[in-house]
Amino acid sequence: MTILHIDSSITGENSASRAISASIVERLRAADPAASILYRDLAAQPLPHLTLDAFADTSVLDEFLAADTIVIGAPMYNFTLPTQLKAWLDRILIAGVTFRYTANGPEGLAGGKRVIVALARGGMYDAGSPASALEHLETYLRGVFNFIGIDPEFVAADGLAIGPEQRAESIRLALGETVRLAA
Ligand SMILES: Cc1cc2nc3c(=O)[nH]c(=O)nc-3n(C[C@H](O)[C@H](O)[C@H](O)COP(=O)(O)O)c2cc1C
Repeated sequence: MTILHIDSSITGENSASRAISASIVERLRAADPAASILYRDLAAQPLPHLTLDAFADTSVLDEFLAADTIVIGAPMYNFTLPTQLKAWLDRILIAGVTFRYTANGPEGLAGGKRVIVALARGGMYDAGSPASALEHLETYLRGVFNFIGIDPEFVAADGLAIGPEQRAESIRLALGETVRLAA
C-alpha cells in the first residue's frame, strides 16, 4: 500500500483533524506494516495559489497518482475547506489526467484509489439541522472526488466548538471510527 497523508489544519497540536487523520494512517499501517507513507503538511508548507505557470509543475499530481490510499485531514473553515487544501485540489483536478469530458458528460479517471477524509467541524450539520445548508466541506469533497471517479469515506468529529465535553466526546467517537475504517 502506498499512502499519501495530507493535513491542512492551522491549529497544530490542538487540531482534531490532524489527530484523526494520524489515527487513520496508524491503523492502516498496523494492517499493512510494509505500507509506504508520504506526508504533506499543507499548513506548514502551503502550496501557492494556482497560476497558469503552476500547471507546469506536476509534482503534487504525481504524488497523488502514485498513491493508492489518500488520507486527508480537513477542518471546516468558514463553512468549507481551508484554502491550503483547495490549492492542493487545484493541482490534482487535471483534465485529461484525473477526469475528462466526453460526449456523454464528465468521466472520472482516478478510480481505484481509496480516499479517507478526517473532518473536523465546530458546529453540527446533520441533514435537516438549521445549519445543514451551510455544509460545503463534506459535500464539496464528496462531489470533487466523485467527479474524478472516487467514492470517498469520511470520519467526522462535529460540534467541536460547542464546549470542551462535546469536543472530547466527538473526537473520542471519531478516533473509535478509525478502527472500522482500517478493518
Ligand atoms: C478560521 C476558522 C474558521 C472556522 N469556521 C467554521 C465554520 O464555518 N463552521 C464551523 O462549524 N466551524 C468552524 N470553525 C471551527 C473548526 O471547524 C473547528 O475548530 C475544528 O476543530 C477545526 O479543525 P482542527 O481542530 O483540525 O483545526 C472554524 C475555525 C477556524 C480556526
